[in-house]
Amino acid sequence: MQSSLSIEQILSSYNDGAPLSEAFTIPASWYVDPRIAELERLHVFSKTWQLVAHVDQLQNAGDFITTRLAGEPVVIVRGADGGLRAFYNVCRHHAAAVVTQPCGQTQILQCPYHGWKYGLDGSLKGMPEFDGVDNFDRAQNGLIPLLVDTWECFVFVNLDSNPPPLHEFLGGLAKRVAPLGIAKLHFFERRTYDIHCNWKVFVDNYLDGGYHVPHLHKGLNSVLDYKQYTIENEDRYCLQSSPMVTYTEDAATGATRKGDRAWYFWHYPNLMINCYEGYMDTNYVIPVDADHCSVIFDFYFADVSEAQRAYNTESVDVGNRVQDEDLGICEDVQRGLKSRAYGAGRLSVRREAGEQLFHQLLAESLKKAVL
Ligand code: FES
Ligand SMILES: [Fe+2]
Repeated sequence: MQSSLSIEQILSSYNDGAPLSEAFTIPASWYVDPRIAELERLHVFSKTWQLVAHVDQLQNAGDFITTRLAGEPVVIVRGADGGLRAFYNVCRHHAAAVVTQPCGQTQILQCPYHGWKYGLDGSLKGMPEFDGVDNFDRAQNGLIPLLVDTWECFVFVNLDSNPPPLHEFLGGLAKRVAPLGIAKLHFFERRTYDIHCNWKVFVDNYLDGGYHVPHLHKGLNSVLDYKQYTIENEDRYCLQSSPMVTYTEDAATGATRKGDRAWYFWHYPNLMINCYEGYMDTNYVIPVDADHCSVIFDFYFADVSEAQRAYNTESVDVGNRVQDEDLGICEDVQRGLKSRAYGAGRLSVRREAGEQLFHQLLAESLKKAVL
């Protein structure tokens, strides 16, 4: 739904310098206009470090995963030398995807179209029936590399060729997460949700400081001490945290959400890390178009042995129920954002500081690119 205003007018209509007590959300047009979605693709998702995998998935030489980042096909592979590498998953011959499976193990990357072969280091190893081709330098025709780096148990890729290093991008988040020891947890299961809403609606919902929890998530509410919920903004991340209470009327939630505190980290633009004792899930929000996003949930546990399977599955199901409650409201909000009745909203000073940080960081990225 393209607005009749110019992109400059749309961007200028958000005041990112307002104190929280006077602040508005970003305008509704930012959630529905395809020009904003394209700006975000080019200036947010093509320039920030994006989570692509868990190190467990890329442990041995030849392990690979494929994904798309900001619309670009990408392959990440563990080399024979033990190094992690990422490449555009685009054949140098006629642009077919070289690797077509979502994940697996191989010693050679062979394009399914005309059989060109690439090594795990991206170098071009062989081209069938290519004798007699002049001025073709094999060394110049390897897969195009991308920057890849790891933090804790996560693998990140950046489409930008000269971004700030990953540790700089993460800023204070790394120090804050370190005591939780998340690298000791093991991957258990992935669930993907396709949602009919702009990606920012999902992030906003996450960053409302627990505002919606007592109303929308009655089960979760019974294990969180909602009044003590804290919200801390720093650098490019927000930590929302709540002490846990032991009494709960909801047995499944109580049995699977334990420990002293719940930790909910969001890092700009689209990464969430949720931790309880012996438990973590990451939520990774991928924009599809202005009106749609996918959210990938990866679940991790301290113990992923067969004996723990039933417990872990119950825990994932509890997460799934909370998620279903969120999805419904997000799709509802997307419909409301398209209504002529709505322009922008105000923010709760007690609860919604994280949401303001998100809007300010996004405005900074987009205004820098356009204005
Ligand atoms: S497109 Fe890959 S070998 Fe032709
Ligand atoms: Fe929620």
